[in-house]
Amino acid sequence: MKVYRTIEEIRFEIGKLKSAGKKVGFVPTMGALHEGHISLIRKAHEHSDAVVVSIFVNPEQFGPNEDYETYPRELDEDLEKIKEQGVSLVFTPDRTELYDSEKYLKIVINSLNDHMCGASRPGFFEGVLLVVNKLFNIVQPDVALFGQKDIQQFQIISRMVEEFNQNVEMVMVPISRANDGLALSSRNAYLSEQERKIAPGLYRSLTYIEKQVRGGVDTPALMISHQKSELEAKGFKIDYLNMFSLKTLQPVETLAKGEQYILAGAVWLGKTRLIDNILIEL
Ligand code: PAJ
Repeated sequence: MKVYRTIEEIRFEIGKLKSAGKKVGFVPTMGALHEGHISLIRKAHEHSDAVVVSIFVNPEQFGPNEDYETYPRELDEDLEKIKEQGVSLVFTPDRTELYDSEKYLKIVINSLNDHMCGASRPGFFEGVLLVVNKLFNIVQPDVALFGQKDIQQFQIISRMVEEFNQNVEMVMVPISRANDGLALSSRNAYLSEQERKIAPGLYRSLTYIEKQVRGGVDTPALMISHQKSELEAKGFKIDYLNMFSLKTLQPVETLAKGEQYILAGAVWLGKTRLIDNILIEL
């Protein structure tokens, strides 16, 4: 496994893979790797001949009061974990390698940013699109893999690929969970012992709502507000919990057969923000 810090080196190595006719699969990450990330790498092998992983904590997607400084950085452990997965190349640029000059351009996201995490984290998805766009241009992957855990991210990047005619196949990988249902996340490391015990409550609320919706409830607002109150009583602070259209990412009041929805929630437990979702096709 080769590890590169510069754009020039990684481009050169990927050029060699491409001229050998290899299909390149790409898994972008911010490190602190867990089983969720590893599941993306495993899936990447199914879709490609050579897997490239990037590890870069992207400053552009953190707000001024967010956790850029304290975000877990575990490069040595990460490289050990990736090595076991038969990855060909790892790209771990420094901040200055990707962002070395004044920026005269800015990506703007329209309505896909109006709700869910886009509403509560201003500038977040613009920062994600900026870095993923750069990484796609550097790595030139044939296929890129992202987790369902961050489904709004997946949908927004997919639109970028489509609207900007990028030649990348997008693959979504299901959410990896702990035994008690909590979606794995690098930020789970922030949870205290007590918070960790409460944390699976979010997924439990989502599965409860899912069951009712699949059972025929087509106007879930009241039930959702009841679940919000239950979560608040357990100590969660609700950012959002709702049904959204998978395509438009707008909230939906009345559900219809044949449509695809995201049942999604974001909550705070102390200083930790947790997100989770379930895809529902009626
Ligand atoms: P990061 O949070 O490190 O996640 C990297 C990839 O792992 C994302 O596609 C994310 O959806 C996926 N992932 C995280 N937890 C998962 C889980 N429990 N199950 C399945 N997949 C999971 O997402 C980012 O980094 C950044 O925004 C990035 C795309 C790298 C751009 O900076």
